[in-house]
Amino acid sequence: MIYVNELQKHIDTEVNLHGWVYNYRSSKQLYFLEFRDGTGICQCIISKEDVSEDIWEKANSLTQESSIQITGKVVADERSMGGVELHLTDLSIYQIAKDYPITPKEHGVEFLMDRRHLWLRSKRQWAIMRIRNEVIFAIHSFFQDRGFVQMDSPIFTANEAEGSSTLFETEFFDQKAYLAQTGQLYGEALAMALNKIYTFGPTFRAEKSKTRRHLSEFWMIEPEMAFYDLPMNMDLAEAMLKHIITTVLARRADELSILERDTQILQKIANNPFTRITYTDAANLLASDKTRELMDGMTTDRLKEKEELETELTALKTEYGQAKKYRKTQIDRRNQQINARITDVEEDLRNYPQWKEAALNTKWGDDFGGSDETILTLHYDSPIIVTHYPTEIKAFYMKRDPQNPKVVLAMDVLAPEGYGEIIGGSQREDDMDLLMEMVNKHQLNTTTFEWYLDLRRYGSVPHAGFGLGLERTVAWMCGIKHVRETIPFPRMMGRLTP
Ligand code: 4AD
Ligand code: MG
Repeated sequence: MIYVNELQKHIDTEVNLHGWVYNYRSSKQLYFLEFRDGTGICQCIISKEDVSEDIWEKANSLTQESSIQITGKVVADERSMGGVELHLTDLSIYQIAKDYPITPKEHGVEFLMDRRHLWLRSKRQWAIMRIRNEVIFAIHSFFQDRGFVQMDSPIFTANEAEGSSTLFETEFFDQKAYLAQTGQLYGEALAMALNKIYTFGPTFRAEKSKTRRHLSEFWMIEPEMAFYDLPMNMDLAEAMLKHIITTVLARRADELSILERDTQILQKIANNPFTRITYTDAANLLASDKTRELMDGMTTDRLKEKEELETELTALKTEYGQAKKYRKTQIDRRNQQINARITDVEEDLRNYPQWKEAALNTKWGDDFGGSDETILTLHYDSPIIVTHYPTEIKAFYMKRDPQNPKVVLAMDVLAPEGYGEIIGGSQREDDMDLLMEMVNKHQLNTTTFEWYLDLRRYGSVPHAGFGLGLERTVAWMCGIKHVRETIPFPRMMGRLTP
């Protein structure tokens, strides 16, 4: 079997492919087919003169997403995606698809989400899924090359680990159980057994918020390392993110280009050190005049952008009347882009005043909200590693700073361009008495995780780890706003199907 993404190797030969009709248009003498087989899209041409009447008619009976088998000659063509074009000599039909619901015209995102099982065939969604796969591959290669062992943690759990507010409760025979919010506590046990480990699995959070960063079911990568402290943890997280970026840039250039991702930004991040600041400095920055200036500047920029977009819309409208058919299609596409962008810009303009207000009111001890994180990332070009968060707002297992127990040896990594938190981690409390203080303070019932305390009873050592959210990372790599498009079948408030 030959696939579309290998056609470069078959130039000037005849090949046979199996796949689907992505798009088509025809004239009296020529039929243009965009053919997809899941590995890529290839431009095909059927010339009426070169094929039998029967094949010409078959071609003209094709509809979007009909399944077909084609035979043709591979011809080098610089302008085509993949650098080749196929000149068809034969065509047979598996099935003619009737009224495929997703047409090239614009659809609302809810309409598309309801048809997620079909939407995944669209070019952009296809590109996102391929990048997701690449990110997963990069994560495994990074850890495997460094001697980490991949280990799996259970999904049914008896206890909370990240606070009780986001637990999905379920039944485990006659016991109450929860879906895992994290694999970390098990990761710590595994690190004591195997030294450097990582878990990679689905995690569940019942957050009742509908934001662009939250899923109810998401995939988390959680390395846990014996004998690591906070600085080593930070270095590992930075090296891992740089490895993910360079892998995606090197291997998924076509997909990034479909998504119109600015790759310069990513390249620069891979080549430069991340910014490292403490929570206290970050909180001060949020409340400072620098934030006021930043937000006022952003508002001015957006207003100007909106004006320019509206001017362009008016110009296109004037042109449309006299435009040729081909140009009309172009204008329709551009109109869609402009309108989508205007919607985003208007949303920004509605949000900015609240964001600015909230940031300027930051007091020491407040947790950062999504908009605070966004503002912080807009102050820098690089990712930011924020450390030493207030003890009060972080999980019970984090080690308090021996120099200042008001803060913990925690780190969050915030992705730039407004993305915000993609990693949360810390050095863990390895002292039994100090850990018990926090267990009591958080009023945790230890009966279900006595086993965890054993890790401090028998050969306790300094150790650290972190959790990377896969979907947030993929959204950042792809340059898309919402995490719902980065997982094949998203689960979030209000969405359990398809
Ligand atoms: O910061 P979190 O809650 O950290 C932990 O769970 C630690 N136990 C990890 C560890 O140290 N082993 O979550 C880690 C990451 C976040 O930074 C974010 O990227 C992602 O998981 N995340 C979510 N992604 C999508 N939807 C949600 N509802 C998410 N909640 C967290
Ligand atoms: Mg977090």
